[in-house]
Parts: sequence; structure tokens; C-alpha cells
Amino acid sequence: MTDPAKESKAPAPDAVTPQPVVMHENTPGNAAISSDSGLMARLKGVMAQPNDSTQKTLLVTVIMCLVCSVVVSAAAVVLRPTQEANAALDRKRNIVQVAGLLEEGGDVEAAFKNVNARIVNLDTGEYTDQFNDVGYDQYVAARDPNLSIELTKETDIAGIGRRAQYAEVYLIGSEENFEQIVLPVHGLGLWSTLYGFVSLESDLQTISGLKFYKHAETPGLGGEVDNPVWQGKWKGKLAFDEAGQLQVEVVKGVVDPASSTAAYQVDGLAGATLTSRGVSQLLRFWLDEQGFGGFLDKLKQREAS
Ligand SMILES: Cc1cc2nc3c(=O)[nH]c(=O)nc-3n(C[C@H](O)[C@H](O)[C@H](O)COP(=O)(O)O)c2cc1C
Repeated sequence: MTDPAKESKAPAPDAVTPQPVVMHENTPGNAAISSDSGLMARLKGVMAQPNDSTQKTLLVTVIMCLVCSVVVSAAAVVLRPTQEANAALDRKRNIVQVAGLLEEGGDVEAAFKNVNARIVNLDTGEYTDQFNDVGYDQYVAARDPNLSIELTKETDIAGIGRRAQYAEVYLIGSEENFEQIVLPVHGLGLWSTLYGFVSLESDLQTISGLKFYKHAETPGLGGEVDNPVWQGKWKGKLAFDEAGQLQVEVVKGVVDPASSTAAYQVDGLAGATLTSRGVSQLLRFWLDEQGFGGFLDKLKQREAS
């Protein structure tokens, strides 16, 4: 006789009976899970050890290193656009400052509105538009053999080794009718390469400003290149004489106002003859034929015609 209770619990003939999922030790997923949980168990075991145990100290150190490196990397990635924007703003600030266009606490972007940036081929003295879409950094280019030339011992009076073929220039005003032109300059001082800008009036002869934004000369000695009083001595000095000969120089000591060459000379920095000489040499390099000389000649010809 059949038991009616057992009969009612029997599955319908075509129903699918769910089978339990059996994980075998040798399946890959299972191996990962078991090794993960094994690792976790070991880590927990180490963390449960006393604070002065070597294993726990090492583990905490490794975890701290990983966390810190993730935080630093994330900060570097997140802050990069801000850093680039600040670097660009700083460059603009230096350009408008050397041209005397920025009042104390003034708006850099507003002062920069009147600045027309162009790239010049230093070999031909002509403007080029070839980097308009890709951007150009003269100091990066100076390390690229395809975009720079190696200077000889005789020509490298600024001690820079290589010179980029192209350089950015900044016209204050329009290309045809500018009030000043700001040129990037750099060269070796005593301890470091000084990076800065020189600004020329529209006569392309008179210096309206000289400013360095990066160097590692000694504060109080070569570092006095940043002293506004010394920087002020450059305003109105002549870079070239009437015949177009480059004459500007920093003298040792104080300029003799009675001298026939006083208009081209600036006082040396006390106790920093080598930095002073470096400034003299870098200016003479960049204003002469190895630097912007060809470009300045072309501008003079254009103005004369
Ligand atoms: C610690 C120290 C830092 C110096 N820094 C500079 C410097 O930044 N620029 C420089 O031209 N001379 C510097 N000098 C001095 C030079 O070594 C060198 O004596 C000087 O340029 C000569 O200039 P003077 O003839 O005007 O004394 C420094 C000297 C010392 C001891």
C-alpha cells in the first residue's frame, strides 16, 4: 500500500530538481577564493599580533606606503591642470611685469590682453605658425636634437650648450604697431642658469626692463638680480649704438656717468661679479646673431621701409 503523504510530496515527472552547486578544490575560481581567504586570514593573523612584532610593523608600513602612493599619485593627476594653469599665469605675469604693464596687485589676464605672442624661427628671423596647433616650449625644444642646434665653445657665450631653433616672442600691441617687444633670455650665472625676459622699446634699441623668474644664485649676492632697485637700473639703457652694434654690458662696480659708454652700462652686483658677468653674456648672446639678432634686424628693416 502506498503512503498518501509521501505520494503528495513526490515531484511532478517533468519538474527540474535544483542541484546543489558543488565547488571542487581544483576549479580555478575556487582556488582563487580559497587563496584570497587564506591571504586574508594570514593578514588578519599578522594584524592580531602584538604592536611590536616585526611582521605587524612591516605589514603596517607596506599598507601605509601603498595608501600614501595612491594619495600622492591621485593628487598629482588631479592637480596637474591647476599646476599648468598656474605656470601659464606666472609666465604671463612675468611678461607683463618686465614690460611695466602690471600695477601692484593688478589683474594679470587684463594686462596680458594687449600682448601678441608669436613664434620666431631664429635662423631666418621670420615668424612661423607651424606650432600654432600643437604648442611650443623653447626649453623643451632645446633638448631635442631635431629642434635645436649644439653651440660651439666660441659661440656659446651664455653657457647654455644648445639653442632651440624657434623661440616665442611677445609683442605689446599689434604686430605692425607694437610699443614693446619681450624676448625670453637664459644663460649661466655662477651656480645656475638664469631664466628671464628682456623688453625692448619699439625703437628696438632701448631696454624697458629685465627680469629673471628662475635661478639658484646666492641670496644677497647673485640673487640680487631680483632686487627691484637693480632691475630698475635697466630701464632706458641702450642695447645697441646708433650703428646697430651691440653694446650693452654689466660692469664691475658702478657705472661712471661721465663715460661715453654709460648709456649702455649697468652697475655690477656687489660681491657677485660672476653672476653679473653671466647676465651680461646672456644678454649679449640673445640680442646678437646667435639669438634674436636676425629677427630684430628684420623688424628694423620692416619699420624702416
Ligand atoms: C657662499 C658663497 C656664495 C657665493 N655666491 C655667489 C653668487 O651667487 N654669485 C656670484 O657672482 N658670486 C658669488 N660668490 C662669490 C664668488 O665666489 C666670487 O668671489 C665673486 O663672484 C667675485 O666677485 P667680486 O669680485 O665682486 O667679489 C659666492 C661666494 C660664496 C663664498
